[in-house]
Amino acid sequence: MFHAEKFIEQTIPKLKENIKGKALIAFSGGVDSTVCAALINKAIGDRLIAVHVNTGYMRKNESEQVIQMMKELPLNYRYVDASNEYYAALKGVEDPEKKRKIIGEKFIRIFEQVAKDEQVHYLVQGTIAPDWIESGGGLRDTIKSHHNVGGLPKEMKLKLVEPLRDLYKDEVRKVARALQLTVSERQPFPGPGLAIRIIGEATKERTDLVREACDIVETEIEHASDKGLMERPWQYFAVLIPIKTVGVHGDKRAYGNTIAIRAVQSVDAMTCHYSMIPHEVLDTISTKITNTLKEKINRIVYDVTNKPPGTVEWE
Ligand code: XMP
Repeated sequence: MFHAEKFIEQTIPKLKENIKGKALIAFSGGVDSTVCAALINKAIGDRLIAVHVNTGYMRKNESEQVIQMMKELPLNYRYVDASNEYYAALKGVEDPEKKRKIIGEKFIRIFEQVAKDEQVHYLVQGTIAPDWIESGGGLRDTIKSHHNVGGLPKEMKLKLVEPLRDLYKDEVRKVARALQLTVSERQPFPGPGLAIRIIGEATKERTDLVREACDIVETEIEHASDKGLMERPWQYFAVLIPIKTVGVHGDKRAYGNTIAIRAVQSVDAMTCHYSMIPHEVLDTISTKITNTLKEKINRIVYDVTNKPPGTVEWE
């Protein structure tokens, strides 16, 4: 049985002892990095510098919200808008593993630069157990390279601190609740962001499409869950399938891309079951996406795959 209070009590003194100078944390605003930042902030205060990198693959208004959270905690923070750099680095890259590796490596390089400017020696990461288990930790096969594991360059110059390494998602949420962090119930969002919700090349144009579609899926599902029409899924989002199909807009032929709706129930992300979204909610999502992204998206499909054999994300 996991005790969040005990975990916090034991972790803070260890962090105090192990972190001698300044530390950097990648702050995404998700549960993992927020819990990590709050714990380390308690241990070393302002010696922790939170860095939020806008990769261009963030959700709608997400970076603005993250900056607000860092101010409210309050954290000593830096904001880096690297979106154009990311779009350029991923130009022409279609392979999911290559996309993940490039994104992960770029993350680390940006941190290294901030680390140099700020003279820090430690890098804090919100890595949790499924991240390294699925990336081939121990004796298991590699399923996918989670960006905060497989992307790490071998010659990395910063010492790594991973206080949540042995925890599963539900345990991290318990720690968040014990620390009274409002992000405790926030759905997970992958480090590589929307880039892995676009099949193939993650251009800015495609990212803008999936960003809008994700926002509609999130808004409508939260609305329906709040009204009691459905159980709130563990994770819910849109995926862009850049395959064109024929449609019709008014009396005109259209030839647009496809969006898949993905919503799952899970406890620890190791397995999941697809969520049963009521048809009326699917209908609203479908209409809103095709109306908002007219001529760009003209087909909506619903993903009914469990994990295994699928994974939560499509890439
Ligand atoms: P999969 O797709 O592997 O996802 O079934 C399991 C959970 O992990 C999230 N995910 C990631 N999180 N870095 C992260 O921090 C990653 O590279 C990454 N890939 C997937 C995914 O959103 C789901 O919650």
